[in-house]
Amino acid sequence: MTSPSSDQSALTIIILAAGKGTRMRSDLPKVLHSLAGRPMINWVIDVAEQVGPAQIIVVIGPDMDAVKEAVAPWDVVVQTERLGTADAVLMAYPHIRNKSGKVLILMGDEPFLPLEALQNMVEKSAPSIMAFSAENPAGFGRMIQKQDGTLQAIVEEKDASSEQREVTLCNAGNFCLEYDGLAKWLPRISNQNAQKEYYLTDLPEIAAEENISFEIVNIGEVDGWGVNDRIQLAQHESFIQDVLRETLLENGVTMIDPQTVYLSWDTEIGPDVVIEPNVVIGPDVVIEGHVQIKAFSHLEGARIGKYSVIGPFARLRPGADLAENVKIGNFVEVKNATLQKGVKANHHGYIGDADVGEGTNFSCGAITVNYDGYKKHRTKIGRHVMVGSNVSLIAPIEIGDGAFIGAGSTIAENIPAEALGLERSKTVLIKDWAKLHREQNKK
Ligand code: UD1
Ligand code: CA
Repeated sequence: MTSPSSDQSALTIIILAAGKGTRMRSDLPKVLHSLAGRPMINWVIDVAEQVGPAQIIVVIGPDMDAVKEAVAPWDVVVQTERLGTADAVLMAYPHIRNKSGKVLILMGDEPFLPLEALQNMVEKSAPSIMAFSAENPAGFGRMIQKQDGTLQAIVEEKDASSEQREVTLCNAGNFCLEYDGLAKWLPRISNQNAQKEYYLTDLPEIAAEENISFEIVNIGEVDGWGVNDRIQLAQHESFIQDVLRETLLENGVTMIDPQTVYLSWDTEIGPDVVIEPNVVIGPDVVIEGHVQIKAFSHLEGARIGKYSVIGPFARLRPGADLAENVKIGNFVEVKNATLQKGVKANHHGYIGDADVGEGTNFSCGAITVNYDGYKKHRTKIGRHVMVGSNVSLIAPIEIGDGAFIGAGSTIAENIPAEALGLERSKTVLIKDWAKLHREQNKK
């Protein structure tokens, strides 16, 4: 039979995310600030899901509907007054469906918790708490240990004596304990402290009165940091960017100057892709093998087929779906468009809301005119079409296979396959006009 401590179907995870995040100085709830293109709370939900709980309850503040949406379908509970981390858990407590088993409490502002440490906490029979040694412990709760190393109490920075502030072992904020223990100890937490808040960190001291000690699970400093202000947000971003870059480098992607390539949490890149310096890859980008992404390109919501060449200075926006061997050159923007094999748009152009057939060429300055000020319209272009320089294709419009569109044309009607579409006024040619003009204007 499985013991209750390893039966994770009985596990409830509570994530605390109701705090105002005052130190962020933001209109956005703190946990919705993104790291590598993904809201902080979704990083926490992701690792929480991997622990395999039966229920996740996220404690949010009033007016945090956007957080509720971000964590759906998991449960949310509103903490109306932010009276502290223990008060937040007290709000979630009546909503725990399993009135037994383990409860794991996580902080919504700690996005990079290591899964193994969480699993380790859940598997322990004793209650546990996560901690890390900090080079600079300022701002964290300090872990006060007895001679034998067992945890006596956690003292918040604001309540700590100068001697206690010397302690470098810090509380990462995450607890794991039996439902029964929580039921017993939570109501005993008071707000007799510097901040007049109900501190969850009082739990170990209360349990110690019954000779029960919380076991310490150690993690690395970076894993336990937490985001309280924009400086820490930037530190976390820099940390996760390095992790993402390293993973791709290990998987066979070349980056000439990795520190200048920005990735997203879900970026997928195949082997033998070369990424030049200063490239930004936003969320939802898939790059197949052997692609070249040249310098200063910006990609988001795009799929790039194998052997394609993108940039320099290219912009791929959401819905850009490129088959293999496509070439998108400098100052070309592609949005919500399907480009079949071998399509080329090498210089200055816009392809938006379009379907472009195999082998079609967009010359310099060719654009689709997709917007009439009210609605977006689609441009359909067949295979092996030659769209000349400075052409405007006014959508909705269809260009048949093999057609030619003469340079400088503004085309507003469909062009059949193999035809020439041309819209150009006759050149006015006056012999020697320039010479006469110059002479007349001589002083
Ligand atoms: C907390 C710990 C501290 C630990 C640090 C680790 C307490 C009292 N202190 O401090 O020991 O070293 O985390 O990062 O627990 N929250 C609510 N409701 C509230 C108050 C907070 O839901 O009434 C949530 C916040 O949204 C946040 C989390 O709890 O996600 C932690 O709160 P925060 O104010 O960031 O605590 P710290 O000062 O970082
Ligand atoms: Ca915090």
